[in-house]
Amino acid sequence: MNYNFDEMNDRLGTYCTQWDYIEDRFGEKDLLPFSISDTDFKIPKPISDKIQEVAKHEIYGYTRWNHHDFKSSITGFFKRRFDTDMEEDWVLYSPSVMYSVSLLIRLLSEPKDKVVTFNPMYDSFFTVIEDNDRILVSHDLKHENGSFAIDFEELEEQLEDASLFLLCSPHNPCGRIWSDEELRMLISLCRKHGVKIISDEIHMDIQIGKRRHTPILKYLDEYDQLYLASSCSKTLNVPGLIGSYVILPDKTIRDRFLFQTRKKDFLNSVSIFGMYATMVGYTKCDDYIDQMVEYLRENMRIVEAFIAKELPDLSFQAPDATYLAWIDARRVPFTSEQMQDALVHVGKVAIMKGETYGENGEKYLRMNCGCPKEKLIDGLQRLKKAMDFLYSKGTMR
Ligand SMILES: Cc1ncc(COP(=O)(O)O)c(C=O)c1O
Repeated sequence: MNYNFDEMNDRLGTYCTQWDYIEDRFGEKDLLPFSISDTDFKIPKPISDKIQEVAKHEIYGYTRWNHHDFKSSITGFFKRRFDTDMEEDWVLYSPSVMYSVSLLIRLLSEPKDKVVTFNPMYDSFFTVIEDNDRILVSHDLKHENGSFAIDFEELEEQLEDASLFLLCSPHNPCGRIWSDEELRMLISLCRKHGVKIISDEIHMDIQIGKRRHTPILKYLDEYDQLYLASSCSKTLNVPGLIGSYVILPDKTIRDRFLFQTRKKDFLNSVSIFGMYATMVGYTKCDDYIDQMVEYLRENMRIVEAFIAKELPDLSFQAPDATYLAWIDARRVPFTSEQMQDALVHVGKVAIMKGETYGENGEKYLRMNCGCPKEKLIDGLQRLKKAMDFLYSKGTMR
């Protein structure tokens, strides 16, 4: 079927984190939000039909995820979309990706162990390492030709005495899809130093450029200490339904993951709506994903063209992946605080500042483009209004 991603959907008054609680992050109400990463799109029709059918049943008892229908929907999706084979037994339910990452950190390392991750990085990666009493080792990605690259020599030194590497693949915020060469190099260094890899692949479906995403488990023949966490929640806009999964080929860790979730955390019943969202989403919604990705490509082109024409001190190239525009504002002659002040108070727009994602993201902006074009263009005009104000007045105060 054909989806209309141009439709403007009112999310206000629904306890929506992005729209209703924007003040928590930006200190002001009534901002147009491009912040937390969910989309403003309606979900695929097969999922909403299923949810309505289940809702009409009016019985929402304890519900089991550990069956062929749930697990094969995930393995089938990885086979179909990423040409990657995995066994059904490797798949376990988890309520959220960050729950999985947090638990895997505890299962795969000891307190005070070093855990390496890139910088800039999705901010919860920094806190999940430190809040689990591990030592955060940040690898600064190099700014290279408008993109970000790994410095493998420096990375190897950092891996020497580390236990774990926390990978975001594709990468939030800079939108990189790691190439086959980069993944092989990373894996070989980790194997050499006995460092296990957790790969968060929640952004895997939104492939904007030509490069294709490769799930980490495609390299299992090269190294067996690879652990994958993901979810359909970002792609299909269902994080509020609750549900995600891990794929753990290592039986010992799988058993320990199950022991923790079932016996210690008592996460025995899945959310019935979340379970169906995954099963239906991964078997009947490829057309939605393909059309949305095409729509997001066009959104990225709009951002590129707007910035090139209207905001020459900013620079932006469409990412390999994600619906997040990672905009370089390092040439702008104002501080991040001055930019944020103008964005919030003059433009009335909420765009994340790069420092949120580590000091190596300083003076970047992260704009969530998972929205109708009308909203996106409004947001870009607000960004321009704020920047024009700064250039005309010097600063706000
Ligand atoms: C890389 C990454 N991992 C995890 C999450 C959050 O996923 P969950 O809500 O399933 O923990 C996000 C959300 O922005 C993300 O960007």
